[in-house]
Amino acid sequence: MRASVLSDWLAQRLDRGNGQPIYRQLHRLLQQAILSRELPAGAKVPSSRLLAKELGIGRNTVTQVYEQLALEGYVNSATGSGTFVADSAPDEIVGGPDADAAIARPAPSNSPLSSPLPAKRALSTRGARLIAGAGVSKRQWGAFMPGVPDVTKFPARVWSRLHNKYWRRLRPDLLTYAPGGGLASLRHALADYLRTSRSVRCTPEQIIITTGIHQSVDLAVRLLSDPGDVIWTEDPCYWGVRSVMHVSGLQSRPIAVDEEGINPSADDLAQPPRLMLVTPSHQYPLGMVMSLARRRMLLEYARQNQGWIIEDDYDSEFRYGSRPLASLQGLDTSGQVIYVGSFGKTLFPGLRIGYLVAPEALAESFATASAELYREGQLLQQAMLAEFIDEGHFTSHIRKMRTLYGQRRQSLLDAAARRYGDALPAVGGDAGLHLVMQLPPGSDDRAVAAAALERNIVVRPLSGYYAQPSLAPSGLLIGYACVPDEDIAPAFNTLGGAIDATLVELA
Ligand SMILES: Cc1ncc(COP(=O)(O)O)c(C=O)c1O
Repeated sequence: MRASVLSDWLAQRLDRGNGQPIYRQLHRLLQQAILSRELPAGAKVPSSRLLAKELGIGRNTVTQVYEQLALEGYVNSATGSGTFVADSAPDEIVGGPDADAAIARPAPSNSPLSSPLPAKRALSTRGARLIAGAGVSKRQWGAFMPGVPDVTKFPARVWSRLHNKYWRRLRPDLLTYAPGGGLASLRHALADYLRTSRSVRCTPEQIIITTGIHQSVDLAVRLLSDPGDVIWTEDPCYWGVRSVMHVSGLQSRPIAVDEEGINPSADDLAQPPRLMLVTPSHQYPLGMVMSLARRRMLLEYARQNQGWIIEDDYDSEFRYGSRPLASLQGLDTSGQVIYVGSFGKTLFPGLRIGYLVAPEALAESFATASAELYREGQLLQQAMLAEFIDEGHFTSHIRKMRTLYGQRRQSLLDAAARRYGDALPAVGGDAGLHLVMQLPPGSDDRAVAAAALERNIVVRPLSGYYAQPSLAPSGLLIGYACVPDEDIAPAFNTLGGAIDATLVELA
């Protein structure tokens, strides 16, 4: 390829007005040209003097870019004879400063150099599947965001006192990597709390501090299963953990739920899975509680078939009519349950601290794996949190929020009943941070959620939580926890406007 062709190609793409330094742009463009083989292995690139002149930029800039590309293995410089594209397959060179940026690994193409280069690195099959099935919302706050607590009520003063205290007497041991499993003081505080509040049977050593339920499930899946193994998931279930399982290469088998929780058929039972992921205290998202008979059946089935149960206990602290229910883990006598929980709902989601209770025999392996895979940190926050729990702030915050959310839940039920009576019933159990409002069979809950979003109201379509959305019941997940009481009725009226308009349009 002639040097002048490359210069023209670069000149067309360098953008002096986009705020990105010319050095960075030139570096990325040359990487793209090499990765796409538009600049083939062995090709000579123009001299820095010539390229700088043709592009109207400083020669130093070009020299620095060439040096950087040489360091990254894209080009070789031979003194006296010039700079050449490296012989090694450049698309196998990863980890450069912009490796995660939009560097193409395009399909071989016959296009001339002037054709546009693909903007994104091609995804792996599982990566593409993850992105195609992604459920995460761009909005994470406001009426009626499901699953988000009222973060404005978090006792910020206490937290900032603890924060100042720990930063005042700076401790290097809290600023380095965490030992596997997390900070001992937090593991002790949590063991006490889980024993008394959730009837979890554990020692502090069985507790592994993670960044939340997502990471806990990821860790359990990696340690206890191999790609291709089967995992039972409730149908419907939380999209987040479903995604974690999919990228791990597990085969997910959706199991129907009834009013007693997960309800495997004889066919299902005939093919024991390696893992079972359940939400016994408050089925997500429908809200039923797993019956004692079902709990016993599941534990016995896991024991007989050497399977593992992952118990996701994501919001069981918030039960309004009765005391919180005991965990499934507390009934387990043979070490088959991995219990996972989070401070995301009890304190605030952005804290990103959760926990996993491993069976005693596996506790050390879990702690080692966690350190090995995630190189844990956040010890300072863990120390603050341990003290926050020990001083009683955690339980008193939960108590306060339980009262508040109970009122908000009632306000939402009242607003729904005023507008729809029994026509659109709400379900969800007497617990949690959201309700599910049923929509008429056959109606398109995605269209309703989209219409609500246009009116600045966030709700989630129930069908999206099912394995086969097109066959799923229609409904909306409506979160009330983060909406001030006085805003609930007006926000529900706005939502009602979206529901009515969409249902009429679709009728
Ligand atoms: C059922 C369920 N499990 C897990 C999570 C996520 O937990 P974490 O934020 O600790 O990863 C959520 C969040 O809404 C959830 O609803």
